[in-house]
Amino acid sequence: MNDIKAIRGEMIDCLDDPAVNAHAIRHIKDGLLIIENGHIKAVGDYETLKDHIHYPITHYPHHLIMPGLIDTHIHFPQTEMIAAYGEQLLGWLETYTFPTEKQFADSDYATEIAEFFLDQLLMNGTTTALVFGTVHKNSVDAFFNAALKKQLRMIAGKVLMDRNCPEYLQDDPETGYRDSKALINKWHEKDRLLYAVTPRFAPTSTPAQLTACKQLLDEHPNVYLHTHLSENLDECDWVKSLYPDARDYVDVYDQAGLLTDKTVLAHGIHLSTDEWKAIKSQDSAIAHCPSSNLFMGSGLFNLKTCESHGVKCGMGTDVGAGTSFSLLSTYADAYKVQQLQGNKLSAFKGLYLNTLGGAKALSLDKSIGNFDIGKEADFIAVDTKATELLALRTQKAKDIHDKLFALMMLAESNSVAATYSLGQCVYLRDDRPFKTQAPAMLATA
Ligand code: GUN
Ligand code: ZN
Repeated sequence: MNDIKAIRGEMIDCLDDPAVNAHAIRHIKDGLLIIENGHIKAVGDYETLKDHIHYPITHYPHHLIMPGLIDTHIHFPQTEMIAAYGEQLLGWLETYTFPTEKQFADSDYATEIAEFFLDQLLMNGTTTALVFGTVHKNSVDAFFNAALKKQLRMIAGKVLMDRNCPEYLQDDPETGYRDSKALINKWHEKDRLLYAVTPRFAPTSTPAQLTACKQLLDEHPNVYLHTHLSENLDECDWVKSLYPDARDYVDVYDQAGLLTDKTVLAHGIHLSTDEWKAIKSQDSAIAHCPSSNLFMGSGLFNLKTCESHGVKCGMGTDVGAGTSFSLLSTYADAYKVQQLQGNKLSAFKGLYLNTLGGAKALSLDKSIGNFDIGKEADFIAVDTKATELLALRTQKAKDIHDKLFALMMLAESNSVAATYSLGQCVYLRDDRPFKTQAPAMLATA
């Protein structure tokens, strides 16, 4: 039997990039979204569509209904080390990250954190993410098992790291290849799950390991390549010394054959024109992570330069270097990063980066990213009255751009009232208490 439902409320989604198309935004003041078997069957004015509906309608007055948010770069094992004090990238990895990731050799631990992490995503309105595991194969099994239970569209991969890290986190080109291949065979395209080959970054892989990554891509042409790029100036100097024959940082990945249209490069702050051109020529994407970049003192990403090269871009929280799971708040950071460079980042462009732009960066725009008919029904209801301040501010909003801007700029942890994945409600704020408890293992640690 068909599962059919309807959602009523003010709706907004992107049909295109608002930076290049003046008609990119679809806004319906009183809209109806009709969902059949987890997919969008219709979207339009409530008044026009309502007569065809003979089943209950879920109504969200004073909310904005928008597509599920897409986090193009995040680390699930770093959930518990969010807000780690006082270090920039390389010191932060040594001091906090590697010891934290060590614990994921334990599958039970990995499962607890994976479930907690997914609850955090859904609570913040994120329905799809591109996710780093740890070097341990079982960390990715734990993550995918947890995502499968909720039928989420998620992409993840095992970290590959065969040098410049503690021995307890080191793999080698052969074991890294073998474990990744086993995970691809087990998880890639299972239900809504997809696999990303995940070398941590150039400094922690030997050229032999990058070659093994290329072999995985050749043998499995639809999998992703997910890594970090040009985030921190010390990191960039280190890459130069480790790869003296490469023209630049991007060339390390390019020479290894790792730039494809399914490659997502996190950060890309300190790039030359040649590097931008190389990324564009391979149709790879950047994950812009402003919260992380500010917290780690990494630098200011120039979105205008990225746009001028026509490079695909999505938004990433980069938790645990980013300090929030909320992509709405991450837009607020992105806005400030652009202000510091004299650029205006509109709320419409922010919505785009968080939805359709993210979907394009992940080559998933045929399935998710907006309310086009036939797409998977991943969407959220954002409460314009989540706090008294928001209620006051949005009541005074002069138009939809102003309302959306205030909603993202002032986002709080309770801004998202409901999250739907494949048409099913997977998070309801007002049922929250049981969902927000810290995992038991952490509570006793
Ligand atoms: N570069 C290499 N590893 C990491 C990581 O875990 N987080 C961030 N932000 N950058 C990295
Ligand atoms: Zn990262």
